[in-house]
Amino acid sequence: MKILNKIKNFLLFNIFYKVLDPIYIFLDKRHIRRSKNLQMIPAAFLRRGGAYSYAEWSYIIGILHTIIENNLINKSNLKILDVGCGGGLVLNAVNEFVGKNGSYTGIDVMKSEIDFCKKHYPKKFNFVHVETKNNYYSPNQEKNIAWKFSNDSFDIVTALSVWTHLNEVDSKFYINEVSRVLKINGKAFISFFSLDNDYENFLKKDLNLKSNFHNQTRLQYVYNERAYDSNNWFYPSWTKVPERAIAVNHTALKDMFEKSNLRIIKHYKGTWKEVPGVFFQDIFVLEKIL
Ligand SMILES: C[S@@+](CC[C@H](N)C(=O)[O-])C[C@H]1O[C@@H](n2cnc3c(N)ncnc32)[C@H](O)[C@@H]1O
Repeated sequence: MKILNKIKNFLLFNIFYKVLDPIYIFLDKRHIRRSKNLQMIPAAFLRRGGAYSYAEWSYIIGILHTIIENNLINKSNLKILDVGCGGGLVLNAVNEFVGKNGSYTGIDVMKSEIDFCKKHYPKKFNFVHVETKNNYYSPNQEKNIAWKFSNDSFDIVTALSVWTHLNEVDSKFYINEVSRVLKINGKAFISFFSLDNDYENFLKKDLNLKSNFHNQTRLQYVYNERAYDSNNWFYPSWTKVPERAIAVNHTALKDMFEKSNLRIIKHYKGTWKEVPGVFFQDIFVLEKIL
């Protein structure tokens, strides 16, 4: 029975889905009337990063676009840095804010992602491979290499589902880099798993149940191990490599943001801890202050 199920799943997801999806999205894109930014979404065999389904890519792109739009004063010709760009999902959400005179630069530790993005997206967008080590994504690279961007050079920094893969040392190093490259009053949009009061309430629920908001069990999101003996960075016991899923507590966020002159403008609560919200992870909107 198990073997039959495996064959069925293989056929459904690796054959039918991957063959039908490019045909479907080719046809579907001809019917997109009012959301030009969805035209660049890659086909299933090329989609990667935190989301896989075409519907989910579109949904996340819409959410991010709205969050960013709602928190900007100037909305065009912006210089945007996308940290951990993966397969370029965020680019589809911010494309409109680049305009004619702005720029988009995506950086990632995975060379394969950068090579894919360079091939798939128009040449006016920049993609740069960084040699930094991440124990989950790039275990064979060096450690904590500073970004090759000037101080005060970006209007916006985005990072979707990236700090959720950074240990304490890397998180702090990278937050300082965000602050360094942002212009004064520039904004950062960064997602986290934030261990706050909602998380404490979540732990009191029946954790063996499936989530009301996503397709995994609640147990998947219990952060009960200290990441490399950190007091404020945690990971779940189902993984051996902490960087596969990292959450931080209030002290971690407060310390990082205060020390790097980033002020929290807004916190969108993540549905991962069973509270209603706009996105699965917590999204923090930060502003660089003097
Ligand atoms: C879950 S994926 C998210 C990708 C993309 N932001 C998205 O939402 O589809 C995490 C990405 O962060 C990248 N990453 C991990 N550590 C990084 C680091 N230190 N610097 C830059 N990118 C990193 C990974 O290679 C991976 O592409």
